Amino acid sequence: MSKSNATNIPNSLQEHWMPFTSNREFKENPRLITEAKGIYLKDHHGRTHIDASSGLFCNPLGHGRKEITNAVTKQLEKLDYVQPFQQGFGGSFELASKIAKHTPGDLNRIFYTICGSSAVETAIKIIIAYHKARGQGQRFRFVGRERAYHGMNIGATSVGGMVNNIKTFASILMPGVLHMRHTHLPEHKYVRGQPETGAELANDLERIALNFGAENIAACIVEPTAGSTGTLVPPKGYLKRLREICDKHGIVLIFDEVITGWGRMGSAFASQEFGVTPDVLTMAKATTNGVVPMGAVAVKEEIYDTVMDASPKGSVELFHGYTYSGIPIAVAAALAVQDIFEKEDIFNRAKKLSPYFLDGLFSLKDLDCVDNIRGYGMMGGIDIKPVDKPGKAGFTCFEKCYEAGVNFKATGDCLILAPAFVCEKKHIDEIFEKLRTGIKNYMKK
Ligand SMILES: Cc1ncc(COP(=O)(O)O)c(C=O)c1O
Repeated sequence: MSKSNATNIPNSLQEHWMPFTSNREFKENPRLITEAKGIYLKDHHGRTHIDASSGLFCNPLGHGRKEITNAVTKQLEKLDYVQPFQQGFGGSFELASKIAKHTPGDLNRIFYTICGSSAVETAIKIIIAYHKARGQGQRFRFVGRERAYHGMNIGATSVGGMVNNIKTFASILMPGVLHMRHTHLPEHKYVRGQPETGAELANDLERIALNFGAENIAACIVEPTAGSTGTLVPPKGYLKRLREICDKHGIVLIFDEVITGWGRMGSAFASQEFGVTPDVLTMAKATTNGVVPMGAVAVKEEIYDTVMDASPKGSVELFHGYTYSGIPIAVAAALAVQDIFEKEDIFNRAKKLSPYFLDGLFSLKDLDCVDNIRGYGMMGGIDIKPVDKPGKAGFTCFEKCYEAGVNFKATGDCLILAPAFVCEKKHIDEIFEKLRTGIKNYMKK
């Protein structure tokens, strides 16, 4: 990275309405990133920060990967855009085959979307089309879970379970959505890996089926490990129980693997890591190492076949898609990512690095302001004891850590860590040293 780049504050910060940001605070005290290389970021003061959350869980291969840049550049020079309806190009088919080699079970049919939110929305629509095609059009209810994050369009917001994301929009959410309880129990204190207790919380789905009619339920959607609310790892047996209940009642099981997909839990997908196969799986983020927007939905073959068979050959089988579904540069980036996954045996690398990462994570337990720590694979959450109002402690702590040179995502009072898999042990050490400094500075304030 260049030695000094203390520049680049635009003349005005007022016009850009930033997403999920305290805009007024930010514009008084901006945190602008000017360069990213490997696992380091440089800000507009020229200070370096280690990236402890792979951006927004996007960049497990680190920043500035030449292989990806070159693939995208080459693609742009050769074929910059193809309309994705009734037309195509070779790359998207090649990529779908590669993705299908990693997806669990026979989830071998891949629908491209633009991001995680549109992957969830697409999953919802595919499932409705599937039930209609098999003569079960009465199934309209979706079951989500408290403390879930599935994205921000109407469908994904509706099945999500974070109150601040939902309450303002209550009047326009999808009808018929119900929520199970989240899996974070008070006894889950400083649990490394899967909690021993809580599998019975999956029976909430059975209860909903009893109370609302199983025959009306289209699908149940969960993040195998809830990411955005701070790494809520599934209790042992929980996902298996959900699978059993779905099978019993003909409910489609969706795993939203937008964060957990592509190695974050130590296997290609959390599904394989936890030994439970869903019917539909969503992915995004690391699919392109975060550099070009792309999401995808993997569905099992029977779902695809049922939708295909429901309409005559020659007609459009699913009236759904996006202008940017699997566009060439996204595909080029994703193919380059697939190559790196293979060449660098990246999922094994994540699995091997995980114990060292988790040791570092749990070493922060002695700090007085820390309330709880959880972790699995290459992801962890540190709860900071709340002060004054929800989120204040977490955000202030994030600011102090940023000043100390470590960057990550804070949600509410939880600091969420998800480093790149290409980190070496020395980088993990640096992350936790800087976190300790930042958190201590926060405690001094
Ligand atoms: C599990 C999960 N699903 C969906 C999304 C939405 O993805 P996007 O922001 O790409 O729309 C996210 C984003 O963090 C996520 O964590």
